[in-house]
Parts: sequence; C-alpha cells; structure tokens
Amino acid sequence: MNRHGIVKPRPANPPPFAPATDEPLPEFVEWFCTQGPSLPMAPQDGIAWAGDISGLLLYRSGQFQAQLFTFPPGTVIPPHRHPNVDSFDMFVSGDLTIRKNGKPICPCDFFSQTIDGLPRLRAVGFHIGPEDWHSGEVGPRGAAFLSFQHWQGLEPSTIGLDWEGQPANEQHGEQLSAPPYAKEIT
Ligand SMILES: [Fe+2]
Repeated sequence: MNRHGIVKPRPANPPPFAPATDEPLPEFVEWFCTQGPSLPMAPQDGIAWAGDISGLLLYRSGQFQAQLFTFPPGTVIPPHRHPNVDSFDMFVSGDLTIRKNGKPICPCDFFSQTIDGLPRLRAVGFHIGPEDWHSGEVGPRGAAFLSFQHWQGLEPSTIGLDWEGQPANEQHGEQLSAPPYAKEIT
C-alpha cells in the first residue's frame, strides 16, 4: 500500500482464450476453470440485495471475505462507514466516483479512462478503514467493484449491514432497522 492507501496487486490477466480443437465450447469451459479468472466460491445464499444493488459473495474464510458489488446507473451511495470492517474497494468496471473522508480518492476521471479497452483503474484497490467515511456516485454505465473485507467483532455477512450513515435506498434502510444476519461474535 502506498501513502495514499492505494494498492495495485499483480492483476490476474490470463492470455485470451483461443480454441485449438473442434470442440471449442467444452474447451472454453475447461480453460476458464483451469486458466481463466478465478471462479467464485459462493454459498447458496451468497447474493445480498439492497434494492437494485447486489453484492455477490465470492469467497469467505473466517473473518475474511470478498464481495462483488454492482450498482445501476445513477446510484448515489451516501456518506457512510463500516465500523467493524477493514476493507479495500477494488474498481472493476463502469463509471464511479469515490470520496473518502470528503475527498475524491484519486482524480475522478481516472475511473472512466481506459487502457487497451480495460478500465485504467482495473485491479486498483483503495483502502477504506473502519474509521473512514466514504461515498460514491455512479455514472451512466453503472459500476462494479470488489470489496475485500476483514470483519472485526461481527460475524461476516454483507458489508451493507455494518453501516453507519444514511442508507443507500429504502430497502437498505429497512434492512438496517432489522438486520437479518449481522451478529456479534460470541
Ligand atoms: Fe462502504
């Protein structure tokens, strides 16, 4: 992590699939599962919804988990923080402006720039600590990011339930008033 709280891990960029047999579809499936992007290891109840915002649980081990969030165009994520979760948000796709403690986390137009057809900030992570207030504005293409989380003091559920601040939408507000599965570790 650099002094701006930004981390750029080595992105997993497998070489493009190119069929080499006369059965390209099974070949593609095998390639994807063995050499392509990692497959999610999600339980059956691994999709969290807050209105039209979805969070797919990709992986969980103990207090660590990764969720892939998608947001429809125009979503406004109000200022909030996750007091029991230390996290990185890693930009995946779309149009997004993130603010951390009131300041844009990096030049906002970086999020909409591309290099070789991929988002310029693909696989760039931004540290969001439990104390950090942050917010987001989603542009016309919607947005997706990965959230890597270390839960502290609560059983991991969805980061949307460890939320201090205005809810993102009406359904989210209902969930926060009666959280279905945010439990303290006993
Ligand atoms: Fe957040």
